[in-house]
Amino acid sequence: MSTFFTRSLLVAAISVIGLTAPALAAEDHIALKAPGWSFDGPFGTYDRAALQRGFQVYKEVCAACHGLKRVPFRTLADEGGPGFTESEVKAIAAQYKLPAPPNDQGQTIDANGAPLMRTAIPADAFPSPFANENAARFANNGSLPPDLSLITKARMGGADYVYSVLTGYGPAPEGVTVPAGRYYNAYFAGHQIAMPPPLSADRVTYADGTKATVEQMAHDLATFLTWTAEPKMEERKEMGFIWMVSLLVLAVLLFFSYRKVWHGEH
Ligand code: HEC
Repeated sequence: MSTFFTRSLLVAAISVIGLTAPALAAEDHIALKAPGWSFDGPFGTYDRAALQRGFQVYKEVCAACHGLKRVPFRTLADEGGPGFTESEVKAIAAQYKLPAPPNDQGQTIDANGAPLMRTAIPADAFPSPFANENAARFANNGSLPPDLSLITKARMGGADYVYSVLTGYGPAPEGVTVPAGRYYNAYFAGHQIAMPPPLSADRVTYADGTKATVEQMAHDLATFLTWTAEPKMEERKEMGFIWMVSLLVLAVLLFFSYRKVWHGEH
């Protein structure tokens, strides 16, 4: 057999595999939307304004169902974060209530049986809006709204995934029935999510005047939730860069010193 023939056969086989593989994969898995992020790449940083807007949407919309138990309020003023001032952070914390420790009489509930609460301080973390898991499930048709502190790390695709889910609601395709209390979402596993579409145009009025489209809010939220999962990202990248440069300098120095050593031997 001519080599030309075998080669053509090989090329044909590879192209067929190449063409059908994505088509097969697409059947039950839709590629995530990838809108692009300021924090992409080795030198990417968080867009401060986006972090502040994302925080605003979280606070006004998502906090009704989701906590951020790994995010202390004080970190909102940390370097590499949304850049709120200390007094802004105090004011933000003061809007949240947490279960109080036992009072002087050792009680944790008031005369009506309601739990005693205290005002949060900057050292506290964003609490879950529900007293416990059962209460959270009871309020959400049996489904648990997960804590969002680490959600961009916990799901494949990170920010792209959060963005895709938040913008991924729509009518179910023909032949698919969605049970009551569930919503069709192209990007959620199984395509039926218990979270009612949380965003709609102008759901918030941005403090900085940005137009609050669903895509804008989803983008800002995904930025904010990437920061909650990796608040030290900028520091990490900076250190990485310093290490790279140091190693490069070291390599150059070593190269010249070895050259000198070797030179002497010959
Ligand atoms: C009315 C309550 C409610 C609100 C408001 C809400 N969620 Fe949810 N969310 C849920 C529930 C319930 C689930 C669990 C869904 C499931 O398991 O089907 C969920 C799940 C999620 C998930 C996880 C999907 C996964 O892969 O497990 C993300 C991300 C999310 N919500 C983000 C948000 C964001 C961001 C906001 C604010 C724009 C928001 N949610 C507002 C109730 C809510």
